[in-house]
Amino acid sequence: MKVACTGRSRSLGARIAEHLGAGLAETTFSRFPDGEIYLRTGPLDETTVVVGSLLSSDSLVELLLLIDACHRSEVLLVIPYLGYARQDREFRPGEPVSARAMALALSLGVSRVVTVNVHKESVLSHFTVPASQVNLAPEAGDFIRGLGLENPLIIAPDAGAVPFASAVAARGGWEVDHLEKTRISGEEVRVEPRKGDPWTGDVVLVDDIISTGGTLVTAARMLRSQGARRVYAVCVHGLFAGTALTVLHDAGISRVAASDTIEGPASLYSAAGPVAKALSR
Ligand code: R5P
Repeated sequence: MKVACTGRSRSLGARIAEHLGAGLAETTFSRFPDGEIYLRTGPLDETTVVVGSLLSSDSLVELLLLIDACHRSEVLLVIPYLGYARQDREFRPGEPVSARAMALALSLGVSRVVTVNVHKESVLSHFTVPASQVNLAPEAGDFIRGLGLENPLIIAPDAGAVPFASAVAARGGWEVDHLEKTRISGEEVRVEPRKGDPWTGDVVLVDDIISTGGTLVTAARMLRSQGARRVYAVCVHGLFAGTALTVLHDAGISRVAASDTIEGPASLYSAAGPVAKALSR
């Protein structure tokens, strides 16, 4: 078995290979003068684990090309961050179900798909091959435990994040609560003040995705104004669009952490173990 990764999933790919005891298929990437992507993999075995997050149009093309380059072996596809999953239905007439379009394209040439904390589980049904997800709540919980906070309150910034937040909290036996969020635009959200007894201790906001940071910045400001001592932010997929990381720190968030499904400076815990375990099943 070999592991081949796209350009932006190299660290996670190497960690998965290590967990599986598999070799890495060295892959080189370049561009033709007109901007088209070119890649070439090294020698493969009977089975190739292709690892690549769907982060951009280029990463989609890299994934499609890499799957094709591996066509002589059985391809198990790992999509650590499945982008486009938030457009999971036709919200207004004339829109695509983007999640479906991506899933159909990425089913071709692969025998199985494993992804991580997909935004909505229903998206998995659009793949035409068996598709599953792993949940990084235990790893996020272990990361929070490592912060050494005294009895933190785990908070989901909206109702959608409650199952993840509850599973994170269960890992440490911590209390969990959630806020009410209304999205005003791509960057702006409104968060209702937290109800219930005031919490003057540490708070950890947990969510599946941080994109612009707008959700967590608004939630953090509100919680601080309600007396929270320190606010931390832990997510699975740290997209950190634009200056999101700076904005989050400027909002007084003590630490921002994400997994390595999207590799960056805030990738402080790994999806490699659970993904390798899922592949071995
Ligand atoms: C939305 O439902 C997701 O779970 C996240 O809350 C959202 O993607 C975060 O986006 P942003 O960081 O731009 O507020």
